[in-house]
Amino acid sequence: MRALVATEEATIELAEVPEPVPTPDQAVVEVHHAGANFGELRHTGYFPAGTVMGFDAAGIVVRAASDGSGPPAGARVAGLGLGAWAERAVFATDSLAVVPDSVELAAAASLPTVGITALRTLRDSGPLAGRRVLITGASGGVGRLAVQLAHRAGAHVIASARRGEGLRELGADAVVGELSEAEVEPVDVVLEHLGGPALVAAWGLVLPGGVLHSIGWAGGEPANFPPYSTISLGPSRTLRTFGDATRPGADMAEVLALVADGRLIPQIGWQGPWTEIAEAARSLLTRRLLGKIVLDIAEN
Ligand SMILES: NC(=O)c1ccc[n+]([C@@H]2O[C@H](COP(=O)([O-])OP(=O)(O)OC[C@H]3O[C@@H](n4cnc5c(N)ncnc54)[C@H](OP(=O)(O)O)[C@@H]3O)[C@@H](O)[C@H]2O)c1
Repeated sequence: MRALVATEEATIELAEVPEPVPTPDQAVVEVHHAGANFGELRHTGYFPAGTVMGFDAAGIVVRAASDGSGPPAGARVAGLGLGAWAERAVFATDSLAVVPDSVELAAAASLPTVGITALRTLRDSGPLAGRRVLITGASGGVGRLAVQLAHRAGAHVIASARRGEGLRELGADAVVGELSEAEVEPVDVVLEHLGGPALVAAWGLVLPGGVLHSIGWAGGEPANFPPYSTISLGPSRTLRTFGDATRPGADMAEVLALVADGRLIPQIGWQGPWTEIAEAARSLLTRRLLGKIVLDIAEN
């Protein structure tokens, strides 16, 4: 079968690879569409040459897990797991979710990683109703879902992005540019995607008792915290890492149910044949593309 694999030069190319072999708790999925994330596109060199790339996919189960768990053959599913950018991929059954009939497989493929990231960090922020939530890099894949989810939970949402178009329509109460150039009142919760100066500035806005989730470092710059900025009187402010993508199936199902109900709108900024991944990646990494990349897998 064919798949997009990492090369020695830290690029991605289409290659012939062996069929994936499932373990007893894995189903084989014929991939119709795959989603691409900032992380795997920016850090391709992290993966050994020959690795079948990608984490997000949607398609049809062609072989159910042999241990009897998970959806049966023929089910429409979304999956999260390394090796997704292939004609066929294997996913542990706790990393699969059935896609409701009303949700297109292309939309489902755009959701797994960014959906569970937005859902899990907001859920770990305590009650959101009436609280102020700041989202940096809000124009991106995680941000555009987090703005919607935080708004629906009743938060006052402040979206920070150089390209703010469409964010008010998604539920942002305020759209500001980069934090270094913006005036923002203190906040209870931050979803922080840029690292560097944005992380420092966002941390400075967190109220006593508040939390900052450090989700990404898209800017790639170092963070220089002023002396004493991590010390304060009163209830603690918390800086949390995020990286827990274990057993995502149930949360993916929750995200897909929100989409099916019309309470969450998938955000696809580019959809096209998987042979054009290099151009799509360039566009994402140079901040020209808004939202998610969805790759159409040719043979399926
Ligand atoms: N920890 C985890 O498990 C986890 C999970 C998902 C994502 N992440 C990370 O979270 C971050 C955001 O992910 P995403 O999928 O939302 O990415 P994305 O779709 O590329 O969005 C990132 C946004 O950040 C802004 N940005 C600021 N500086 C940038 C730079 N130097 N290069 C590129 N974009 C820059 C851009 O907005 P403007 O141009 O409009 O300002 C862009 O829309 C990434 O670092 C990703 O690796 C981590």
